[in-house]
Amino acid sequence: MKKTAFLTGITGQDASYLAELLLSKDYDVHGLIRRSSSMCNRKWIDGLDITLHYGDLTDSHSLDYLIGDIQFDEIYNLGSMSHVGISFELPVYTFQVNTIGVLNLLESCRKFNNQARIYQASTSEMLALPIHKSVNEEESFIVHSPYACSKLAAHELCKIYREAYGLHVSCGILFNHESERRGDNFVTQKIVKNLIRMKRGLIQSFELGNIDAKRDWGYAKDYVEAMWLMLQQEKPDDYIIATNESHSVREFLQECCYQLELTTKYIYEIDKTEPLTCIISDKNKIIGHVIFNPNNKRPWDVQYLKGDYSKAKRILGWEPIVRFKELIRIMIEAELEMHEK
Ligand code: NAP
Ligand code: GDD
Repeated sequence: MKKTAFLTGITGQDASYLAELLLSKDYDVHGLIRRSSSMCNRKWIDGLDITLHYGDLTDSHSLDYLIGDIQFDEIYNLGSMSHVGISFELPVYTFQVNTIGVLNLLESCRKFNNQARIYQASTSEMLALPIHKSVNEEESFIVHSPYACSKLAAHELCKIYREAYGLHVSCGILFNHESERRGDNFVTQKIVKNLIRMKRGLIQSFELGNIDAKRDWGYAKDYVEAMWLMLQQEKPDDYIIATNESHSVREFLQECCYQLELTTKYIYEIDKTEPLTCIISDKNKIIGHVIFNPNNKRPWDVQYLKGDYSKAKRILGWEPIVRFKELIRIMIEAELEMHEK
């Protein structure tokens, strides 16, 4: 018998890779899709042999119907309002999707399929520590945004449903992971796409916010493997998935420029340590600049993230393959290829 899997967030980065992984393992894959006036957001799943169902995490009836009707073996909840910066502008909506949405899903499982194995997409944003260190699963949670708070509430709800009702729910505390499928308004993709446009003479400038923030960046394709491994364990549990390396946004920008053979010159105001702008040159010719606009900074940001994945290595046998420079190479190559087409 084929195993059946249900993925929310099917149009997003992670679920599209996970769908491919599950198909390669001969699963019958189902995805939850929101109604949209355009089909553009389906580009990563077009052509995949999966069944799509209209629904929404905020609509409990759509979940009850599906989860009651099809007895999925595995459920991966990857749908969310996933942009931390935008969560400051849409805090209520963020909670509706990221917290109430998870509660809707857990309730559907409790009522209609309490045997399903469930994966919840938790986040390193719940680990906004004031000190710079590598964190493991024993760390206490600290949040700095409505997004992180909504995800922490969902994380705690998952634990409650695990303990109180015996649901097989595992939470992956994933640190930032990127790919050529990363949304355009996350910082890595924004830098890659804009530098390539600049090199091709299509734009002369673009803006960034906090470039001193440090993140533990991995590759999404490696990380979906860990999600699957979590649901293959007899006992549900929570795991940190990361690379245990931390780099600043500024380092990301520098490495992209280096790989694209562009040079940088930072301009500072007198007595200031934060640059105003960065002049970008290609073969000694100025082609544009990056503006560091304080208006793009979040009201409260997480300054440093680095994750210790040793528990995942020990129990799941999981380790990241792609590291920082290789990740940038993959993203740049994909974007250049897209421009060629
Ligand atoms: P993503 O690319 O932004 O995809 C988010 C998905 O959620 C999209 O398919 C979106 O559908 C869907 N969605 C949004 N609101 C929904 C709703 N009300 N009902 C149903 N679906 C809804 O995110 P991702 O990078 O793949 O991340 C997957 C999950 O992991 C998210 O929960 C994210 O918060 C979490 N996470 C991500 C990272 C990371 O670095 N990528 C790290 C830690 C945790 P539309 O196309 O219709 O908008
Ligand atoms: N998006 C964005 N745009 N971020 C910028 C910019 C900019 O122009 N300039 C600087 N940054 C900084 C942000 O302030 C943040 O410190 C860092 O770059 C990373 O921002 P994002 O790429 O938006 O990712 P994130 O770390 O806030 O959130 C992502 O990772 C989380 C896991 O730690 C998302 O995928 C979340 O869904 C995920 O939970």
